[in-house]
Amino acid sequence: MYLTKEEERIFNGDLGWASQKCMRILVRLGELFDATRLIPISSAHVSGVSYKTLGDAPAEYLKALANAGAKVKVRSTLNPQGFDAEYLGKRLGEDIRKKQSDILEQFDKMGFAPSLTCTPYYLKKPKRDSHLAWAESSAVVYANSVLGARTNREGGPSALAAAIIGKTPDYGIHKVENRRPGALVDVATPLRNESELGALGILLGEILEDEIPIIRGLTGATLDQFKQLGAALASTGMVSMFQLEHEKILRKKEKMQEISVESRDIQKIIERLSTTSTTRPDLVFLGCPHCSISELKNIARLTDGRKVKAGTEFWVCTSRCVKEMAKDYVGTIEKSGAHVLADVCTIVSWTEAFGIETIMTNSAKTAYYAPSLNKAQTVLVPQNRCLEAALRG
Ligand code: F3S
Repeated sequence: MYLTKEEERIFNGDLGWASQKCMRILVRLGELFDATRLIPISSAHVSGVSYKTLGDAPAEYLKALANAGAKVKVRSTLNPQGFDAEYLGKRLGEDIRKKQSDILEQFDKMGFAPSLTCTPYYLKKPKRDSHLAWAESSAVVYANSVLGARTNREGGPSALAAAIIGKTPDYGIHKVENRRPGALVDVATPLRNESELGALGILLGEILEDEIPIIRGLTGATLDQFKQLGAALASTGMVSMFQLEHEKILRKKEKMQEISVESRDIQKIIERLSTTSTTRPDLVFLGCPHCSISELKNIARLTDGRKVKAGTEFWVCTSRCVKEMAKDYVGTIEKSGAHVLADVCTIVSWTEAFGIETIMTNSAKTAYYAPSLNKAQTVLVPQNRCLEAALRG
């Protein structure tokens, strides 16, 4: 792999251990995927921020980097942590709170923005064709497919290394020729809501492996629904982007896999992701991926004047930045007794410690992961059914 003189100096340790370590991670990754050079990125986004998913050893590594003087070279943001300070943090032990704040302190020393969200594109939208190094798979699919930016699905360590160096190896989806679709998906049934779009993502992720699909039959779907589709697609497969049939299609591969999706395929996925049929879940959860302003507006309209049922937790997760921008909607939602939580989500939090055994959600990604990561039974239904279960009046 070709390195500039400056990159070589970093590689050889002339600028210190931290940047040498990061440069070596990027070069090793580049060599694995036959990259010929590093390219500058406009932003990095690091996942694995919650102490629940990170654990102790990676936290020590962060500390070593921060103590060695590592500093980000580009705008760099962070995925959600394990709790929000205002509500869930108060219900967790001092030990967990301390470990989580130690992790954030290291990121802070390195210059990361404390965004704590999986939707960094709502804070600052990346430019079309700009190169990024993002590690949250739902955000990667959204950035590539909806925003037209270019990012591989980074792991936490490679996104961190890219943030410190300000560059990433030039391979995979950064290159135009690797963004060509290889599968044509015909959705033969109109999808009615965000949960069905998510179920489509789960199904396609399982079939496609890393093949990019062109999807036909999704006219009328909203950006928030595409967010659900992408998050689910990345949960079961290695796909990093999709295209829609009415877009200007990048040149296709010679051989296209053809997939037809019927209503019964979608219903089967929804049934599989619903491990219980309860209508009185312990937790009703909206906001995976984190809510946009328009989603909060819609939830506020539907919660206005109503109250959360006794014995039910109702969480709506979003970023701190969006929460601030949508203060009035947040006020209306919280008046109902729901909690609009920033910095966190159900999957990366300690729901078991709060006695949550059943979760109802409109997110296929949460329904897919919660049985293993939260040891909870799940019900996947659209937002209106979530609200019916959460609210009275
Ligand atoms: Fe975001 Fe958590 Fe879902 S990080 S994509 S809300 S699992």
